[in-house]
Amino acid sequence: MKKLVTTILAATVLAAGAGLSVAADNPIVERQKIFKGWGDVTKQPGAALKGEAKFDLAAAQAALKAYATDSARLATLFPDNSKTGNDTAALPKIWQEKPKFEAIYKKLAEDAGKASAAIKDEATFKTEFGKVLGNCKACHDDYRQKKS
Ligand code: HEC
Repeated sequence: MKKLVTTILAATVLAAGAGLSVAADNPIVERQKIFKGWGDVTKQPGAALKGEAKFDLAAAQAALKAYATDSARLATLFPDNSKTGNDTAALPKIWQEKPKFEAIYKKLAEDAGKASAAIKDEATFKTEFGKVLGNCKACHDDYRQKKS
């Protein structure tokens, strides 16, 4: 029994160590973390766009800044060895149409920059912010597994 416990403990420590190194340089983990951050910063402006929250200029600008800053990095986080694992929702189509997929990130970053310059008040927010989010939807529709 003692030996079994020791073995289990050793295996757990090994697994934890492996998990750490994987988290540090696993592109799937890193892209999911960035997307999750985007989901968080998009909540406020997304709700404001639907009229479910008050317009908040700072929150809208913070979200735009995150999209503009992270897009280039995200585009590099889909190497050939990251098609499976970690419950990824990335579809194989990404690797069949890489240039098209990467172009959406570029457009998102450009649109975010333009919207950031254009948005000064609630009226400009209402016309400009949705255009930026259109890029999220365009990519998710084609390249991300639907939640069931
Ligand atoms: C060019 C493609 C593309 C664009 C643009 C894009 N996404 Fe995604 N998104 C994905 C893919 C692919 C995944 C699945 C990643 C995985 O599981 O490996 C994903 C996952 C997510 C997730 C789930 C993260 C998790 O694992 O919990 C959120 C939230 C998200 N995206 C938000 C956004 C928002 C907000 C935008 C726009 C500002 C956006 N995405 C733009 C492709 C994209």
